[in-house]
Amino acid sequence: MADLNEPFDLFNSWFEMAKEKELNDPSAMNLATATPDGRPSSRMVLLKDFDTTGFVFYTNLESNKGKQLSANAQVALNFHWKSLRKQVRIEGAATPVSDEEADAYFQSRPRGSRIGAWASDQSRPMEGMFVLERRVAEFTAKFHVGEVPRPLHWSGFRVDPQLIEFWSDGKFRLHERIVYHRDGDAWTTERLFP
Ligand SMILES: Cc1cc2nc3c(=O)[nH]c(=O)nc-3n(C[C@H](O)[C@H](O)[C@H](O)COP(=O)(O)O)c2cc1C
Repeated sequence: MADLNEPFDLFNSWFEMAKEKELNDPSAMNLATATPDGRPSSRMVLLKDFDTTGFVFYTNLESNKGKQLSANAQVALNFHWKSLRKQVRIEGAATPVSDEEADAYFQSRPRGSRIGAWASDQSRPMEGMFVLERRVAEFTAKFHVGEVPRPLHWSGFRVDPQLIEFWSDGKFRLHERIVYHRDGDAWTTERLFP
């Protein structure tokens, strides 16, 4: 058995290396959800926070992924840091962060990103870029120099990991795989053939 912190500490040490080595977006991770008829659906999102309670990302709740998550909270995350030749896979349920947490993160974003959250009807059809530009101009004028509040349709999810797999590139494709399975307040571990 491994203690609760072990895979998070290991993730943190790999993430710190990735922040030094990756060309850009070391926090980018693939997020896989499922459609109502059971088809996989995946896209990249950015990891914005993590600790032993889980891995946090933010998005538009009315986007495809947002709707999928409200029907089925089970997700898979995947980090691939090419510069390190390392992969981390995470599986678990995504639950909404609190309004207070989402507000605090939203207010830490650049003003342009906050306006963008209002302007983008993420995942819905758009006639052309001019529509987005017009909406950005409208919301910029609406909020003028005042506060830009968090739209209610924009928030975050925390993925509570039940499985975390660490994969390291090895010579001759003999990669190293270590899997942590959540077991109450601790983890069982196993190694897998590559
Ligand atoms: C590197 C990268 C990071 C991204 N980060 C986010 C993110 O944090 N949140 C988000 O909603 N979309 C993010 N996107 C855009 C998504 O991949 C996706 O296009 C968008 O969220 C719509 O997905 P959906 O239609 O499946 O909901 C990112 C895209 C890339 C390439």
